[in-house]
Amino acid sequence: MTNVVLLGPPGAGKGTIAARVAAELDLLHLSTGDVLRDEVARGTELGQLAQGFMERGELVPDHVMLAMVRERVNGREGVLLDGFPRTLAQAEGLARFLPVHAVVYLAVRKDEVVRRLGSRRVCPSCGAVYNLVTQPPEVPGRCDRCGGGLIQRADDAPDVVARRYEVYERDSRPLVEHYARQGKLITVDGARPPDVVASDVIEALRP
Ligand code: AP5
Repeated sequence: MTNVVLLGPPGAGKGTIAARVAAELDLLHLSTGDVLRDEVARGTELGQLAQGFMERGELVPDHVMLAMVRERVNGREGVLLDGFPRTLAQAEGLARFLPVHAVVYLAVRKDEVVRRLGSRRVCPSCGAVYNLVTQPPEVPGRCDRCGGGLIQRADDAPDVVARRYEVYERDSRPLVEHYARQGKLITVDGARPPDVVASDVIEALRP
């Protein structure tokens, strides 16, 4: 089985593409952002620890993230990691418990991701993701899937988006070079419609 890492700046479309690729290739989709948001919503110890970092657009400490991912991977193969690793220390820690076979880098420019995050809306009940410009819900403000009320993520406020992008450039972008040196990097132009991006990723990963 293939283990895949999905890299890219905030708003590159990692979650959108990962859901489609995981369904098509029968991979376990593990989004660290989604796991953390669930922990925050349930008020767990991990959620309480992570909340402040997330609200500020900072990264949750590496040792916390490594323990969280290791527990969820739990010896499984065929994993699609979305939003992890995000630092070189996380990449090195991951290599100790899960072999990474391919790394997909969704390349999208800063002005485009800022535009996308400003118009993203999410359903806090079922986790569905929309975009007021490119993927609007059928009924304004309501989730197509479960009928829940849509909200804007608190970390999609413009000042937090700016900080998340800075943190990405400083801590996560070096992973592109890290995995390129290992011969695992597949770069995909993420600035095209989601269906086109997803089918390119699926083609690149298909055995
Ligand atoms: P996380 O939730 O992972 O945030 P992120 O990486 O910043 O990514 P996003 O979820 O914002 O965007 P995305 O790339 O998934 O894009 P999406 O598909 O939604 O992490 C949140 C926080 O948790 C972090 O800031 C940190 O604090 C913490 N955290 C998480 N992982 C961590 C780790 N490993 N270490 C430490 N801390 C961690 O799409 C965005 C929008 O664009 C949507 O509206 C969508 O509809 C639209 N869209 C998507 N694709 C396209 C397309 N091709 N064309 C047009 N519109 C599109």
